[in-house]
Amino acid sequence: MTKKVLVTGGSGYIGSHTVIELQKSGYEPLIIDNLSNSDERMLGLIARISGQKPLFERIDLCDRKGLMDFFSRHRDIAGIIHFAALKAVGESVAEPVRYYHNNITGLLYLLEAMQEHDINRLVFSSSCTVYGQPEQLPVTEDAPVQQAVSPYGNTKQIAEEIIHDSSQQSKLRAISLRYFNPIGAHESGLIGELPLGVPNNLIPYITQTAIGKRKELRVWGKDYNTPDGTCIRDYIHVSDLAQAHLIALERLMKGENEKPHEYFNLGTGEGYSVLEAIQAFEKVSGVKLNWAFYDRRPGDVEKVYADTTLANLKLGWKAEKGLDEMMASAWKWEKNLAAGILD
Ligand code: NAD
Ligand code: WQD
Repeated sequence: MTKKVLVTGGSGYIGSHTVIELQKSGYEPLIIDNLSNSDERMLGLIARISGQKPLFERIDLCDRKGLMDFFSRHRDIAGIIHFAALKAVGESVAEPVRYYHNNITGLLYLLEAMQEHDINRLVFSSSCTVYGQPEQLPVTEDAPVQQAVSPYGNTKQIAEEIIHDSSQQSKLRAISLRYFNPIGAHESGLIGELPLGVPNNLIPYITQTAIGKRKELRVWGKDYNTPDGTCIRDYIHVSDLAQAHLIALERLMKGENEKPHEYFNLGTGEGYSVLEAIQAFEKVSGVKLNWAFYDRRPGDVEKVYADTTLANLKLGWKAEKGLDEMMASAWKWEKNLAAGILD
């Protein structure tokens, strides 16, 4: 079987880490990305880690002709890992049409191209956001999908449904991976998350505050029904997450999937509060963080963490890296960025 794997959004945060895992396992990743939220220099850094620069084409998934053209030039693609999407929750509230267009049209064109070129294996980036605030914790895959609180979240729900419906009527075999909170960076410190502008997510905000790019970390809310009053999340190391994509793809390649479309939670199964995340960061970095409490952020769920039994049993995958390692790697990456690794 061919070893070519298309990685859409492969120069982005999770995509770049997955490209490394694919290369390590002897695959030939082909990257399509429009660079709307990533930097082409990431490709050189991938090559510094793996010794191989992956094939890269700057293509927008919503450019149907460009996409079709790509597939007619690249034959024998064994499967696709589809990361490419816009992902900023607040921005999606402000610009819903842009988000629906990018994330849904992009997926539809990709599925059309797959059908036309008889490529039938798809691993899709979904999100724990589909669960909203679950009634039972840890949350299992059969927990009800709740009304999305943002257009971004809705694009994940709609995309899962599109993939599901399509898999019932075609040769498509798909796995939707519902990530909890991906954080951290490659152990080399050479690739990591590259937020554009002011970060919304906790960990890049912490590391940017620690390095002096931001004055103060604002902790959103201290009166949640949790032991220390701050929200609880299931943080997962991006390299563990990347590994799971490879395993999911191989499950499809070996025909081990039990249904045309499967869903798996990807987290550690452990919930940590915002204050615990800050403490872990301070411990591993030795930096005292400047932070203060502020009002709750609208739309935040109080607590969510994964039941990972299904991924453990069916994929044979388990997250290995703990919170300290996640924080240490995120900090190494931030320091490398400050030292000019991209310059
Ligand atoms: P990212 O922004 O770093 O990577 C996404 C990549 O897709 C970027 O390089 C961007 O330029 C590219 N892209 C976006 N729209 C495109 C289009 N129309 N055509 C071509 N390329 C396009 O984000 P990430 O954190 O690596 O997330 C990857 C996937 O995982 C996304 O689908 C995201 O929604 C999902 N996800 C992320 C998180 C998270 O917290 N990071 C959590 C759950 C799910
Ligand atoms: C984590 C915790 C904040 C920033 C988002 C998306 C979700 C998924 C992952 C893609 C929360 C608190 C944060 C800050 C803070 N992405 N916080 N100060 O909200 O769990 O999920 O990213 O699918 O869809 O909504 O992650 O990192 O933004 O927040 O106190 O400056 O940190 O309130 O409790 P979240 P996050």
